[in-house]
Amino acid sequence: MNWLALKYICKNDFLMVKISTVQFTPSLGTPADNIQQVFRLLQGIQTDILVLPELCTTGYSFISRKEVMAAAEGPEGQSVAELQKLSKESRTLVIAGFAERSNNKVYNSALVALPDGQLKTYRKTHLFYREKECFDEGNSGFFVVQHPFKDCRIGTMICNDWRYPEAARSLALCGADVIACPCNLVSSIWGIGMQARALENKVYLAVANRCGTETRQLEDGTSQSLTFTGGSVIYDYNGSPMEQAGKNGDCVITLEIDPLLTRDKFFNAFNDLLKDRRPELYINR
Ligand code: ACM
Repeated sequence: MNWLALKYICKNDFLMVKISTVQFTPSLGTPADNIQQVFRLLQGIQTDILVLPELCTTGYSFISRKEVMAAAEGPEGQSVAELQKLSKESRTLVIAGFAERSNNKVYNSALVALPDGQLKTYRKTHLFYREKECFDEGNSGFFVVQHPFKDCRIGTMICNDWRYPEAARSLALCGADVIACPCNLVSSIWGIGMQARALENKVYLAVANRCGTETRQLEDGTSQSLTFTGGSVIYDYNGSPMEQAGKNGDCVITLEIDPLLTRDKFFNAFNDLLKDRRPELYINR
């Protein structure tokens, strides 16, 4: 192999990025089993960025703040440690939804474990429905991390944040090439919004949704059932689905993306998505 060919391969290896979304069926209150499910699904998969669903360690259907508090973990928690170990050992940036305890607060958070050992958390900004009775409003704000081994910048939002274009736009303004979106979606209308978030910001968008049904007995003797709608998907920077999972069934989607293609925000010779903004005319309240 000549020197130029070798240089080309090395360059490509640095620039091309593998991203995976995991769709699976966590159970409520069984973090060790849920992590094992994830590890089983990931056997034989090598990837650079791994996106897991919202609250993937605990399950979703909490009915009180007290209950979430008991299930939540701080940075020293067992699931956090296992996901961080996975990140370091496989040189993968792991983004995973978990219930985060911090002093007397509890957040619907996403762990952002970088393979060089850094650990950050994004705390869900726009809580959905009864989450408002169980979690504190997220206060981390939106941020982007640089993959330590790839030329790729990743931002995180969680599920219902898709309805607020400000979330994805904030991440694009911070320089995200890719938005990772851990989800526990219960409708089917989100696709139209997620596609728009990718298109209007010219970013890749990876949605890791869960599937399956969680049924709970409530204190008044009735029961509550939630069915999650799967369909995990990775959109390209034009908002087109590159690959999508079915509504049911555990699976991993892995694709190769080129983050550099998101950096030039022109979509014709005259229009740049971010530079053409007119913030002085927007209402900010
Ligand atoms: C949601 O935010 N879990 C719909």
